[in-house]
Amino acid sequence: MIITKPPMGWNSWNTFARGVNERVIREAADAMVETGLRDAGYEYVVIDDCWSLKERGPDGRLVPNPETFPSGMNALSDYIHSKGLKFGMYSCAGIMTCTGAPGSYDKEFIDAETFAGWGVDYLKYDFCHFPAVADPRESYSRMAMALETTGRDIVFSACNGGLCEVEKWIRSTGAHLYRCTTDITETFPSILEHCRSQDEKIRYSAPGCYNDMDMLVVGMDGIGHHGHPGLCGDTEYKTHFALWCLFGQPLMMGSDLRRLRPEMLELLTNKDLLRIDQDAECRPPIEAGIKGDSRPSFFKHLSDRQFAVAFFNFTDEDGCADFRPWDIGLTTSAGVGMSLREVFTGEVVGPVNDFLSLYVPARDCKVFIGEWVTM
Ligand code: GAL
Repeated sequence: MIITKPPMGWNSWNTFARGVNERVIREAADAMVETGLRDAGYEYVVIDDCWSLKERGPDGRLVPNPETFPSGMNALSDYIHSKGLKFGMYSCAGIMTCTGAPGSYDKEFIDAETFAGWGVDYLKYDFCHFPAVADPRESYSRMAMALETTGRDIVFSACNGGLCEVEKWIRSTGAHLYRCTTDITETFPSILEHCRSQDEKIRYSAPGCYNDMDMLVVGMDGIGHHGHPGLCGDTEYKTHFALWCLFGQPLMMGSDLRRLRPEMLELLTNKDLLRIDQDAECRPPIEAGIKGDSRPSFFKHLSDRQFAVAFFNFTDEDGCADFRPWDIGLTTSAGVGMSLREVFTGEVVGPVNDFLSLYVPARDCKVFIGEWVTM
């Protein structure tokens, strides 16, 4: 099975963590449909950790907690599928998950069969309590094989927190996406740190196996497990989402979809940003200014002769972000220039093939989709 676009959906962890239950999963699925998120392309509804009993059943299989998932996984899976959505679950490559539920180490084939039997379409596979003597590459590879032998198409989302130089070997295991960072929190420094940590790693992300900088905190508004009241507002969410799209990331929402504000819905369904994120070629952006600048700009080749140009201000002071076309190989004598359209405001800039300095308010960004024109 090959995946050719970074997956889009929702995951329970950021908001619900240990409080997950079948009601909130159903309500998340309902909200995905009612808000138009499904029609915008979000399709996976993923239950993270804390769905199972702490012991396996007498047959050696994982058992959903009957108090929090009384209807069982088949009923929940049917419900999610009836909404035109796909069903995701979670397990762990170690002996236990991070919260002490049974992991799939050495139980990969039986667990994969259980997941397939529940109609699972996506498996997030964590890395807690991993035996010191075991080899991560072998374990992720074994689960990929186990999923394949079920005969069901299941997206395999590896999640080892970016450890063990995972970017160098994960593609060979059969995983379709892999976490290349630690856990995100709802703070601007965490968002930036997640992105900046990919400077040397984003090149590994490509169709078939995508980098995953973690679930989105867009619209959490301080509520939930990873919520930090007052530390992110609309500007920080906008920059967060723009960065994830520019870096071609899986878009797994983590907020409570039942109470998403209209501004957040508008952001999460921005057609131009989603077009950049889901671009078929998934090319890494090129930093087109002084590398590591706190007001950086980026250029990204897209398919269909288009490209994206983005200006960020990571600082707390308004100021200008510079774009140096020569850093992307474009010269003023080339006879072509960039015609740019901003994805939030529709503002048009260009044609231009010379130094461009744009004013960007603190923590904000400007993102353009561009086309080449003769000059
Ligand atoms: C972490 C993982 C989180 C979440 C959590 C559940 O290792 O990075 O995204 O899945 O485990 O316990």
